[in-house]
Amino acid sequence: MSTYTHEFRRSVEQPETFWAEQARRIPWFKQPQAILEYDEAQHARWYGDGELNIAYAALDYHVEQGRGDQPAVLWDSPVTDSKRTLTYLEMRDQVASFAGALKEMGVEKGDRVVIYMPMVPEALVAMFACARLGAVHSVVFGGFAPHELSVRIEDAAPKVVIAASCGVEVNKVLPYKPIIDAAIEQSAHKPDACVIFQREQHVAELGARDHDWATVVEKASPADCVPVKGTDPLYVLYTSGTTGKPKGVVRDTGGYAVALAYSMDAIYDVAPGEVFFSASDVGWVVGHSYIVYAPLLRGATTIVYEGKPVKTPDAGAFWRIIEEYRVKSFFTAPTAFRAIKKEDPDGKRLAEYDISSLKALFLAGERLDPPTFHWLDDLLDVPVIDHWWQTETGWPIAANLHGLEPMPTKAGSATVPVPGFDVQILDREGEPMNAMEQGAVVIKQPMPPGCLTGVWGDPERFHSAYMAAFPGYYLTGDGGYVDEDGYLFIMGRTDDVINVAGHRLSTGEMEEVVGAHPAVAECTVIGIHDALKGQLPVGLVIPKDGFDGREVELEEELIALVRDKIGPVACFKQVLVVDRLPKTRSGKILRKLLRNIADGQEYAVPSTIDDPASLEEIHDTMQAREVGASGNARLTDGP
Ligand code: COA
Ligand code: AMP
Repeated sequence: MSTYTHEFRRSVEQPETFWAEQARRIPWFKQPQAILEYDEAQHARWYGDGELNIAYAALDYHVEQGRGDQPAVLWDSPVTDSKRTLTYLEMRDQVASFAGALKEMGVEKGDRVVIYMPMVPEALVAMFACARLGAVHSVVFGGFAPHELSVRIEDAAPKVVIAASCGVEVNKVLPYKPIIDAAIEQSAHKPDACVIFQREQHVAELGARDHDWATVVEKASPADCVPVKGTDPLYVLYTSGTTGKPKGVVRDTGGYAVALAYSMDAIYDVAPGEVFFSASDVGWVVGHSYIVYAPLLRGATTIVYEGKPVKTPDAGAFWRIIEEYRVKSFFTAPTAFRAIKKEDPDGKRLAEYDISSLKALFLAGERLDPPTFHWLDDLLDVPVIDHWWQTETGWPIAANLHGLEPMPTKAGSATVPVPGFDVQILDREGEPMNAMEQGAVVIKQPMPPGCLTGVWGDPERFHSAYMAAFPGYYLTGDGGYVDEDGYLFIMGRTDDVINVAGHRLSTGEMEEVVGAHPAVAECTVIGIHDALKGQLPVGLVIPKDGFDGREVELEEELIALVRDKIGPVACFKQVLVVDRLPKTRSGKILRKLLRNIADGQEYAVPSTIDDPASLEEIHDTMQAREVGASGNARLTDGP
C-alpha cells in the first residue's frame, strides 16, 4: 500500500487517532484530550479541551526555540519601491506591543476586530495581535467598496477597526479613510475606535474615532498571549454565497493550527527555516492560511508581496522574487500565470533568473486550465500542482501530496483527496456515482480539523447552505468527477458563485445591486468564460415599462453602481439591455443556457422553455455586442 493510501485510510477510518497524532505538531498550553466531539447539530468539533494561542505557536514559540534572528516576514513591495525584513523576534515584539495597544482600547477575548489593510507587514501584525488577545479578526479585502465593508462591520460588530491610510494598486494610490468612514456611516453598528497605520504614500487626516498606529503602540505595554480553547474562534472571513449577504465563515483555533501545520509538511513540503511564497492577499483565505498562519506556525519565512504579477514592474516579477529570496515553494492563482503568459508567451523572462531553489509550484483559487498547466509544465523543471480548496475548508481538500508522496500529475485534475477529506461524488438523489460520472462533490462527515465551524451569527445558514442537501455530507458547491485512477477533477460551481481572477464573487449579489436600480424591471447576471480572468460577469437587464430608451446611459449607470456597491474587484463591465429573458414555464431564468451561448457552445431549445423565440433573440444580441465567444454559439436540433 502506498504511503498516501495508508495515511488517507487511517485519517478517515480512525480520525481521532490520526488527528491526535497530528496535534503534536503544534505547541499547546494544555494538550487536548477530547480530540473529536460533535455539537448538538452533529457537526465535528476538534480539540475542544485543548488550550493554545496561535500567535504564541507561530511567533513566541519559535523565538524560544532559537529562531529569533531568522526572518519571519520578507516584505517586497515594487509598487512602493520598498523592501523590509522582520525577524521572528521583531514580529513577536511588534505583535505584543500592538496587542497591548488594542487591549488598552478595551479589546478582549472574543471581541471582534475588522482589519482593512493592504499587503504590508502591519496587516500580519494586526492579525496576530488579535490572536494574541483571543480576539476574533475579520479581514476585508481592499478591493471591496464601502458598502461591502459596511455589511461586514454590521455583521461582525467589531469593537475596533484597523486600517492603513491607503493601498497602492500598480501606480494608483487609494486612500482608505474615505472608504472606512463611509462604511461606518452606512453600518448600524459603530466601532468604538479605528486605528490607522499611516503610509507615506498618503497620510490620512484622523477624526474623533481614529487613533494613529504609531502613537498607540508607543504608549502601550506589551500584552501576553491569552490562552484559548481549541474550539474558540480565531477569525471570521466573509465569502460570497448565493445571496447578496456574504457568509461569515468561522474558523476555530486548534483544528486550524493543526491542519495548517500538517499541510506545510504533507502538501507543501516546507521545513522550518525555508522560504514559502504565496502571492495572494491577506483578504482571502489563501492569504490567511498560507501568507500568515501556516508558514509561521512551521517556523518558515513568509513573503508579503505588494504588487501584481505583470505590471510591477513586469512579467519577471515572480521569478525575481523566487531568485532573490531563495523560495522553495510558490503558490498563486492560475489567473496570475495567464497574465504572465500573455506578456511573455515564451517564458523568456524566466531565463534571466536563477530559480533553482524552487521545488514545486502550487496553484489554486480556480481550476488550473490545461493550457496554462501545459505552459507551466513545459517551462519549469518542478512539479506544477493544482490543488483544490475553499474559504470554508481553510486548507486543501485535494492535492498532489508533494511532501508525503508525490504522484504523477494530470492536466485538469487536483489529484487526490488530502488525508482527512473523505470526498465523494453524489447524484441528485444522494447516491454515489461511478468513476467518470459527474456529480455534486461532497465531503463525508466528520470534516477534518481546520474547516469552518459555523456561519457567524447564523447557525441556520450553516446548516441550510452546507449540510442540508445531503445529510451526513458537506456540500462543496462544486461539481466534478473521479477518474479510474481515483484522480479528482473539479469542473466548476453548481451555484451562483463565480471566480473572477481568482476572486470569489456572487452573481446573486450583483443581481441584487442591478435589480435595485429604479429603471430595472428584471435582470440576471451570469459568469462567462474569460481567457485571462477565468470568468467575467455579464448583466442582462429588462428595463421597466416607460423606460426612456437611453440604453447606453443605463448600462453605464449599472456598471458604476456595481463598482460603487461591491467594488472594482467585481470586474462588472458588460451589461446588455434586452426585451426578454429565456425562462422556463415556471418562470426560472435559464442561466446555464445563457452561459452556453455566451461561451460559444452548442445549445438546444429546451422543452421546458416558455418563449423559444427569446433564446434566438438573446443569441443575436450577444453576438452583436460581442459578448464572450457568442459568435461561435450554434443552435442544435434537440437536447
Ligand atoms: N485594492 C483596491 N483595488 C483592487 C485591489 C485591492 N486590493 N485588487 C484589485 N483591485 C482593483 C484593480 O485595481 C482593478 O481596478 P480597475 O477596474 O480600476 O482596473 C479591479 O480591482 C480588478 O482587479 P483584478 O481583477 O485583480 O485585475 P488586474 O488586472 O488588476 O489583475 C491579476 C489581474 C490576474 C494579475 C490579479 O487579479 C491577480 O494577481 N490575481 C490573483 C488573485 C489571487 O491571488 N487570488 C487568491 C487565490 S490564490
Ligand atoms: P474561495 O473560497 O475563494 O477559495 O473559492 C473556492 C472555489 O474556487 C471553489 O469552490 C472552486 O469553485 C474554486 N476553486 C478553487 N481552487 C480550485 C481548483 N484547484 N480547481 C477547481 N476549482 C477551484
